[in-house]
Amino acid sequence: MRKHLALVLLTLAVSSPLYAAVLRLELGSASKALSTEALLEHPQTQLIEIADDVTYKRTMRYRAVPIAALLDGVNAGDHLQVQATDGFAAEIPAAPLLSATGSKAWLAIEDPAQPWPRISQHKPSAGPFYLVWQNPAASQIGPEQWPFQVAAIRQLAPVDERFPKLLPAPQADVAVNNGFIQFQKNCLACHTLNGEGDAQFGPDLNVPYNPTEYFSGNFLYQYIRDPQSLRQWPQGRMPSFSAEVLSDQALGDLISYLRHMAGRKQLGAPD
Ligand code: HEC
Repeated sequence: MRKHLALVLLTLAVSSPLYAAVLRLELGSASKALSTEALLEHPQTQLIEIADDVTYKRTMRYRAVPIAALLDGVNAGDHLQVQATDGFAAEIPAAPLLSATGSKAWLAIEDPAQPWPRISQHKPSAGPFYLVWQNPAASQIGPEQWPFQVAAIRQLAPVDERFPKLLPAPQADVAVNNGFIQFQKNCLACHTLNGEGDAQFGPDLNVPYNPTEYFSGNFLYQYIRDPQSLRQWPQGRMPSFSAEVLSDQALGDLISYLRHMAGRKQLGAPD
């Protein structure tokens, strides 16, 4: 009889759309899992509007909870990583996520009873969870800081402590150092370099070869601005970086960083 009941409960849990997904929160030593249902019922969850949604490219309305309400014990000086189910891993300083002024960060929650549209014809929706921003320009939030299909938010040491093989030489100039900042903001969510980084989405950008070694002339610049203008196929997943997201100067610095790192190849220790 009991076994039977357990089976019924299990079937209910599996078939009930309200238990569709779980968000993992790993903050300091505490780790917890919040279900879609628990997040929808969070006292601070509300209906919000996002103008110019980066993923859907239009105005969207979501049920969402302020990210700050989920980050108990996290301080502005801390560092977070938002992991998606597809291997994308955004590195985001806690400060803009917690801030009450400037850009405001929300975790949008897909209610399985009212599913979101597909991202594109061949892709599912941005759910179950999606980090969205109101007024993103105020804190210079870029498109790679809008992770969708979020699975986990983790508090980690900053990138330069976790991944020393990404660092430029101590004597590197300002352009290279600024390029490293641009790399962390725009590229590290998808690419590793010297085998370092948590992303598992695009190829390594230094080993075995650095793109500055095999893209001649202006082609690397052109590729980052618009990958499909150089290599065209429908499944390409490398995004375009417009001058609005990455100014000419920032892109020049980023390429200086990549070129600099070509002289600092280090293979990651085997796992
Ligand atoms: C959303 C994930 C994503 C982001 C962000 C991203 N890339 Fe990519 N990148 C890819 C993928 C995936 C590929 C493989 C080609 C494809 O599928 O489009 C790629 C390919 C490349 C290539 C071509 C490598 C080759 O030899 O074909 C270069 C160079 C590159 N990326 C550089 C960058 C730089 C620099 C940045 C930051 C400004 C960046 N990428 C940001 C996903 C990404």
